[in-house]
Amino acid sequence: MSWIDQHPDMAGAFAAVASAKSVEAKLFREAMSRLGAAVHVITTDGSSGKAGLTATAVCSVSDAPPTVLVCLNRNAGSTPIVRGNGVFCVNTLCASDEHIADTFAGRTKVSREARFETGEWSTLATGAPVLMSAVVALDCRVVEVKAVASHDICFGLVEAIHSGPPGAALVYHDRLYKHV
Ligand SMILES: Cc1cc2nc3c(=O)[nH]c(=O)nc-3n(C[C@H](O)[C@H](O)[C@H](O)COP(=O)(O)O)c2cc1C
Repeated sequence: MSWIDQHPDMAGAFAAVASAKSVEAKLFREAMSRLGAAVHVITTDGSSGKAGLTATAVCSVSDAPPTVLVCLNRNAGSTPIVRGNGVFCVNTLCASDEHIADTFAGRTKVSREARFETGEWSTLATGAPVLMSAVVALDCRVVEVKAVASHDICFGLVEAIHSGPPGAALVYHDRLYKHV
């Protein structure tokens, strides 16, 4: 039985959303550029392979149990690998790791396979790569994946945490890297 079958009172609201018109994507992207966000590298390793990509769409969900979410574009090469491995690590970058952000965003000439040659990596509980210089790294097991629009929202149970050296973090705002 679907959620809407269990909540018939909400059927009208969902029909309204389905017929509603959204703003233009360009206007939305412009609006989003005004939101400052921490820069992370989402990594994974396991039977489906090793991969990592730069992401800002990361959010805390709950502390009972500790859960986070990451939004991964289904067109990104790393997304099916995260799903296949069922694990990921959220590595929150420090201010001086801008080059790692660019590398894992595919902005440099470094191939996908060679991305991990930049930085010092280890593992914690799940086997996903943990960046030693990260402000903080959250080692997660995927507990749910929800496809919404162009992205897969991956919910992860936090199994271990690494806190790197204290210092400023890397933030993306107004299409520029900034230090906070
Ligand atoms: C600052 C910044 C933030 C990004 N945030 C996300 C994100 O939240 N989710 C996502 O899927 N891609 C995001 N990207 C894009 C990916 O990093 C980029 O598409 C990358 O090349 C994907 O690599 P892959 O195809 O090897 O997985 C972001 C890129 C940058 C530069």
